[in-house]
Amino acid sequence: MLATLSITALQLALAVLSPAFAVASREQQPLGVDHTATQKRVTWDEHSLFIDGKRLFVFSGEVHPWRNPVQSLHLDVLQKLKAAGFNAVSIYFHWGVVEYERGVFRWNEIFDLQPFLDAAKEAGLYVIARPGPYVNAETTGGGFPGWGTRVEGLWRKSNKNYTEAYKPFVREFGALIAKNEITKGGPIILVQVENEYSGFGDGIEDFEYEWELLQDFKDSGITVPTVCDDAWLGGHFQSVDIYGWNSYPLGFDCSHPEVWHSAPPDYFYNLYNSRIRKHGPKSILELQAGGFDGWGGAGYDACGKLIGPEFERVFYKGMYGSAVKVMNLYMAFGGTNWGQLAEPGVYTSYDYGSILREDRRLRDKYYELKLQTQFLAVSPAYLTSTPWQLTESRQIEILKGTRNIVLTVLEDTLDLHTKFYIVRHKYFSKFDSINYRIELKTSIGAITVPKADHTLELQARDSNILLVDYKAGETHIIYSTAELYTWKEIDCFNYIILYGDPNEKHEAAFKVSELKDFSSLDTEEVEWTYQIDNAILTVNFAILEDGDTHTIKFGNTVLLVFCREVASKTWIMDTNPPAIVKGGYLIRSASIEGSHLNLKGDLTQATRLHILATKSVKQVTFNGKDVDTQPATDGWLYVMYTPELPDIKLPELSKLDWKRADSLPEITDSYDDSKWVTASNTYTPNREKPAVKEVLYASDYGFHSGNILWRGHFTASGGEDGFWAVVQGGQAFGYSIWDNGVYVGFWEGDVTTGRHRCNFKLPKSWESGEDHIITILQDHMGLEENWTAATEHFKAPRGIFDYGFNGASPKLVHWKLTGNLGGEKYLDIERGPLNEGGLYAERQGWHLPGFDDSDWKEGSPLDGLKEPGVAFYRTTFNLDVPSGIDYPMAIEYSNSTGSYYRSQIYVNGYQFGKYVNSIGPQKSFFIPQGILNYNGKNTLAISLWAMQGEGAHLNSLDLRILGKVEGGVGEIKNSPAPAWSERKDAY
Ligand SMILES: *[C@@H]1O[C@H](CO)[C@@H](O)[C@H](O)[C@H]1NC(C)=O
Ligand SMILES: *[C@@H]1O[C@H](CO)[C@@H](O)[C@H](O)[C@H]1NC(C)=O
Repeated sequence: MLATLSITALQLALAVLSPAFAVASREQQPLGVDHTATQKRVTWDEHSLFIDGKRLFVFSGEVHPWRNPVQSLHLDVLQKLKAAGFNAVSIYFHWGVVEYERGVFRWNEIFDLQPFLDAAKEAGLYVIARPGPYVNAETTGGGFPGWGTRVEGLWRKSNKNYTEAYKPFVREFGALIAKNEITKGGPIILVQVENEYSGFGDGIEDFEYEWELLQDFKDSGITVPTVCDDAWLGGHFQSVDIYGWNSYPLGFDCSHPEVWHSAPPDYFYNLYNSRIRKHGPKSILELQAGGFDGWGGAGYDACGKLIGPEFERVFYKGMYGSAVKVMNLYMAFGGTNWGQLAEPGVYTSYDYGSILREDRRLRDKYYELKLQTQFLAVSPAYLTSTPWQLTESRQIEILKGTRNIVLTVLEDTLDLHTKFYIVRHKYFSKFDSINYRIELKTSIGAITVPKADHTLELQARDSNILLVDYKAGETHIIYSTAELYTWKEIDCFNYIILYGDPNEKHEAAFKVSELKDFSSLDTEEVEWTYQIDNAILTVNFAILEDGDTHTIKFGNTVLLVFCREVASKTWIMDTNPPAIVKGGYLIRSASIEGSHLNLKGDLTQATRLHILATKSVKQVTFNGKDVDTQPATDGWLYVMYTPELPDIKLPELSKLDWKRADSLPEITDSYDDSKWVTASNTYTPNREKPAVKEVLYASDYGFHSGNILWRGHFTASGGEDGFWAVVQGGQAFGYSIWDNGVYVGFWEGDVTTGRHRCNFKLPKSWESGEDHIITILQDHMGLEENWTAATEHFKAPRGIFDYGFNGASPKLVHWKLTGNLGGEKYLDIERGPLNEGGLYAERQGWHLPGFDDSDWKEGSPLDGLKEPGVAFYRTTFNLDVPSGIDYPMAIEYSNSTGSYYRSQIYVNGYQFGKYVNSIGPQKSFFIPQGILNYNGKNTLAISLWAMQGEGAHLNSLDLRILGKVEGGVGEIKNSPAPAWSERKDAY
C-alpha cells in the first residue's frame, strides 16, 4: 500500500511541473506526465497523443485475432480498416487458450499473435494491445483459463493465489508486447492493463492489485504508455499513464433497432476534468460500434441496424464534442466463436453488427464512418481543441432562437482558433428535422448563417459539424455549413471535398486575397451562386442528387461538393502526391509507378471510377490488369472496370454420400467407462458448494467446454421410481437422461435458464439389488463472464449440484464423467484446447479428416434419428475456386418448429457451428476460407443430438455463397488441419 501511495504522490508532483501544462504547440514533444519514461516515441499531453512528436487522433477498431483462426485472412480485415481511415487496431489477448494447461504455453500456429501484429504493420496500422489478464469479451470465462476455477479466492484482487496464477502469463505476453513495441520497430503504441476494472463484487477497488499488475507488465519489458478502460467515467485505475473509459450508449437490445432509448453521451469533458487527476488525452478505449447478440436474439443484422450509420453520425460526433482524441470502436470486426470460444451469453457468430461483417464484407456503416475518419485525419486543429462552456440559453441565443438543438462548440487553443460547431437534436430519438440559423464567431466578426435567404436543416437522427476559420492546406475556410470530408493537395491544386444530403442548401465562405480564374467547371447547369465582398468569397449551393457534383474553382482551390453517398464511396489514397478515387466497393491501396496508377481493391459489379491523381498518371491498372483509361474534365481520369466473377460449382450437401455412426454408445450395456475420471472429490475450492457430498463440477476434474457426460452408478434399494437433479450448463444449455440405456427425458433449454431442476419418472421402478447407471449428457455453453471484478462468476460450476430419487434411495457406487479427451492435456494441439467437446465422436476424432469411415453405414443428417440419442455424420466434397476472387461461404440449416435437437458443424476438423433448433437465432454459419479448403478436398462432419422421444432430423443443409467480389488479399493459406490418427487411449 505504501508503495502505491508514494508512486501516486510522485506522479502528481511531476504532473504539476510537467511541460504538458505549459502552452501547447502543435508539434512539441512532451513526455506526458511520466518523466521516468524510457522511450520518447509515444508521448502525450492533455490534448492528444504524439507519435514521434506528431500529434494524431488515434482512430482504432477492435479485432480479436483468436476469433479468426486463419492467419492469412487478418491482412484482409486490417487493410479494410486502413481503407476506412483507421490508423490503429486494438486487440484483446486470450489467456485461456494459450495456457489451457497451467504452466504450459502453447503458441501454436492459429493462436500465435505474431502474424497478426506483422499484418497490422504491413497494413500500416498501430496496435493497442489489451492483454487483460481479464478481458470479458463475451468469451468463455472472460478469457480466464478453466483451471482458474480451482484457484481459491477472489480473482482480479491482490489475492496471492490469483497473482501467482497470472504472473507467468504476464511475463509471456508482456515479452511479446515488448518485442513488438514501436520502440523496437513494431506496431504497438499503447498497452491497456486490466479491463473495465470498475465494479467490484466486494465493493473495493484494490489499488495494491493495480499497482502490482502494472509493475509486472513493466517488468516484462513494456515501455510504451499504459492505459486503462474504465467501464464508465468513474475514475478507476488512475495509476496508469493515460486514463481511458468506455461507453455503450444504446445497450444491446437489437430486437428494436429503431429505438434509441438514451441520449448521446453528453459532454464528458467537465466530468473528466473533475474526476481524473492526470489530464491526458480524452481516451475512449471502447465505444459502441455494434452489439453482441445472445441465444434466441434478434440476429446481427438487427444489431447492425440499431448501431447503424445514423448512430455513427449522432453518437460519434457527440464524442468529438467532448474533445476525445483516442477512440477505439468495439467491434470493428467481430469474427466467430468457433470451437466453444463463446460465453453463455452469445452464440457462434460474433458478427457484432460491425462495419465489417463476420464474413468480412462491408456494411453500409463502414462508408459513413469513413467520412469521419478522413475528416479527423486532415483536421489538426481538432487535436488541440477544447469545448466552450455553453448554457442552454446561450445555445438558443447562438441558434437565433431555435430550440431543441444541442450545440457544442470546440475551439482550437492555437493558431487561427479554428472552431467546430457540432449540432444535434435534443430529442435524439424523434424522426423530425429542424430548420435553423446559427451565429458563427469568425475571424471577420460574428456572422449569422446562412446569409442567403434559406435556413439550414438538421435532419432527423443526424448531427452536423460546421467549420469556422479552418485551414484546408493553403485555403482559409471562413466557415462552411456543409461538412468537410477531406482536402488534398495534388500537383498545384488544393482539392476540398464538402458533402451533405441531397437537396440540402449550404453556404461556405473563403478568404481570397486575389481572385483570379474563378469559375465553375460543371458542364451541366447547376444551382449555385456566389458573392465576392472584401476579399471574401461566399458560395451558396444545394447538394445534388444522383451523384452529380459541383466543382467550383478559385485560385488554386478546387471545391468539390458531393452528396453523402458519393463522398462516402470516395477513396483517399496515400500515394505521393495523394490520389482520389471516386466510386467502387473497396479500394485498398494505390501506388504510382511512372505513368501508372496501380489500384488494388474489391469490386462487386461493373463500376465506373473517377480518379484524380498527379498529372504524370496516364494509365490505371486494377488488381494488376491494365484498364482502358480516358481523360475526363479538369484532370480527372475515367475508367470502367468489369470484375471477373466466375460461377463456381458448389456441392449440394443434402445429396452427398453421407456416412453415419452412433455417437452415444455410453448408454449401452456393454460400454466400458473404466477410463473415465471418477468424480471422487468431496472438497471443491469453488465458493459455491454442492448440495450433495460428492463434487460433480466438470472444471474440478479438468473439463471446461463442450458436451459433458456423467454416469452415476447405483445399486437399487428397491422402489426407486423417480429421478431429479439440478444441472447447470449456462444459458440455453440442455441435457438428456437415460437409465440403463432407457430414455428418461430431457430439458430442451431456453434463453434465460443456466441452471435447471428436473424431476422425471423413471421408465421402470427399480428392484432391490439391481445395478443402474444414470447417464446424463449435458451441454456446456462456456464459462461465465462478468466484468464486475472480485466476483466468482467465471467459476460458476458446470455439472450437477444436487440430485436424488423418488420412491427410495439407492446406494451410490460412484459418479464418473468425461469431457474432451485429455481434458487440460488436450490432444489436438493444432486446433486448440476448446475445439473438441466430450461427445464420443469427438473423443474418437471422428470429426477429423482422414478418419476411415468405410465400414460405417450410409445415412444422412436429413434422415436423422428415430429415437433420442446422438448420431454423427461424415461426408467429403471438393471445391475448386479460382484465385483473385473472394467468395465467403456459409453452411446453413433451416428451422423445423417444435423439434428439439442440437447440432454441431465440423469443417476439416474445426468446430465452426453450434446450432440449437428450438432457440436460434443463428442458422447460417460462416466458414472462412482457410478452414474451408477452396482448392481441394473438404471433410464435413455433423453431430445431431436428438433430445425428444421421437428423434430428430435436419430439415435442410446447404453450402451457400454469401457474396462475390473480385479482389481479396491474394493467396489464403489453409490453417493446419492434421488428419486423424489412432487415439490409443480414447474411450
Ligand atoms: C489460497 O489457496 C489456498 C489453497 O487452496 C487456500 O487455503 C487459501 O484460503 C487461499 N487464499 C485465499 C485468499 O483464498
Ligand atoms: C455480475 O456480478 C455482480 C456482482 O456479484 C452481480 O450483481 C451481477 O448480477 C453479475 N452479472 C452477471 C451477468 O452475472
